[in-house]
Amino acid sequence: EDSVPIPQPPPSLFLGNIGDIDPTNMPESFWRLAETYGDIFRLQIAGRNLIICSSYETVKDTFDWSRFEKPIMGTLVELRAMVGDGLFTARTDEKNWAIAHRVLMPVFGPIGIRKMFDNMMDIISQMVLRWDRLGPENEIMCSDDFTRLAFDVIGFCAFGHRFNNFYKDGTHPFIKQMTEVLIESGKRSNRTALENRMRIFSAQRNMENIKAMHDVCDQIIEDRIKHPQPDSTDLLNPLLYGKDPETGETMSRENVRYNMCTFLVAGHETTSGTLGFLFYHLLKNPRTYLRAMQEVDEVVGEGPLTVNHLPKLVYIKFAIYEALRFMGPIAVNTKHALKPTLIAGKYYVEPTDHILLNLKPFMHDPKVWGPDADEYKPERHLNGGFESLPPNAFKPFGDGPRACIGRTFAEQEMIMAVAVILQNFQVEMADPSYNLWIQPTLTIKPGAFSIKVRRRPGRD
Ligand code: HEM
Repeated sequence: EDSVPIPQPPPSLFLGNIGDIDPTNMPESFWRLAETYGDIFRLQIAGRNLIICSSYETVKDTFDWSRFEKPIMGTLVELRAMVGDGLFTARTDEKNWAIAHRVLMPVFGPIGIRKMFDNMMDIISQMVLRWDRLGPENEIMCSDDFTRLAFDVIGFCAFGHRFNNFYKDGTHPFIKQMTEVLIESGKRSNRTALENRMRIFSAQRNMENIKAMHDVCDQIIEDRIKHPQPDSTDLLNPLLYGKDPETGETMSRENVRYNMCTFLVAGHETTSGTLGFLFYHLLKNPRTYLRAMQEVDEVVGEGPLTVNHLPKLVYIKFAIYEALRFMGPIAVNTKHALKPTLIAGKYYVEPTDHILLNLKPFMHDPKVWGPDADEYKPERHLNGGFESLPPNAFKPFGDGPRACIGRTFAEQEMIMAVAVILQNFQVEMADPSYNLWIQPTLTIKPGAFSIKVRRRPGRD
């Protein structure tokens, strides 16, 4: 078959395309290059062949799981020291991925997550009380408090454990340890094996961090075994005692610990970053803030938020979706071809190519989203707009068997948090002249974005 060459910025003789990217901010480099090179382009970096897909046509083609799959490589391989064969870092053909996937899919479903409403509200209330007591002049760094929120919600709703980050000036050591491991894993994946062996001190620090996190999880497990809670709505009972419907096996103790760490890693930066982006957009576009607040006033009023209100908070849900479309916490998804194939019927790729899905330009493709794709407009999803999208156009949660297992959990938590915040406070930017910049780690979030909150009149 005829293939069309994949464009590549002119490489330098020995360094390839390293000069075309900022290694400390890959997402922004990919967005910038997509403006010049469009649909798809190639970069040669450190001996690797990267294929970056940036349009609807090229990206959606890689969602064909008979030709492409999620590769476990680079940082993900390094992360396995911490999260092993947990769901996020396991290969799809690993036995423990399949067991955990089958055991946990139903408990992460809508019925299981609705049962977590009260426990989610417990943590959200802690945040709101703290904000209220610190008063209207206090600057709230979004990344700090939304991280506390997301982390404590997972701890409490998934493991019945209180990390109590809203009762501390700093945060639980787990968060720092995890961040260090994420950063070190990224670095390790860019070093040679020899170099990694020579960095004795960073390797030791990495192992110490990992051990400390594993100890926290093991402690929670032991506590549950000693003090059973048969009526609990959290995930610890299914993790420990749930039987795989296919093999009848339970998850191994080690795999349970890996998955506990996995949920804390996969669930806290993503949720926290999304809430940060969301408030940035709502405050930059006051019309959308007002509409979200009106929805809370109409649906919930001044009384307590209940689980029955949640499906009626549609504008808020779509405001969150629109934030995820605009620029979600996961900037790139990775794929690789199972056999040599043509992307979108014309671009030839080999299994050794690293395919990166450039999610921002993909979800701004004017062919799908129209000429106003670069505007933040939650209403574009209302009145059936969302249902009428072409297939696979909205993919901030990954796709296929390896899509996000925590999506319903995250959506419920975010809708609840936004509703309670808007019900009780008037939110404003701490610095009205703030301009969005991106802070990349494993995920991206708005850099140094802070807000102030004032109790709404009559809300006490
Ligand atoms: C996987 C996004 C919240 C647990 C993923 C993937 C994406 C994603 C894009 C696929 C990654 C890949 O292909 O390599 C998000 C976003 C979230 C969120 C945008 C919030 C706004 C959560 C939460 C949890 C969670 C709260 C857990 C409580 C996981 C797990 C996987 C995953 C375990 C791996 C699933 C597998 O491969 O079997 N997530 N996530 N996520 N997410 Fe999330």
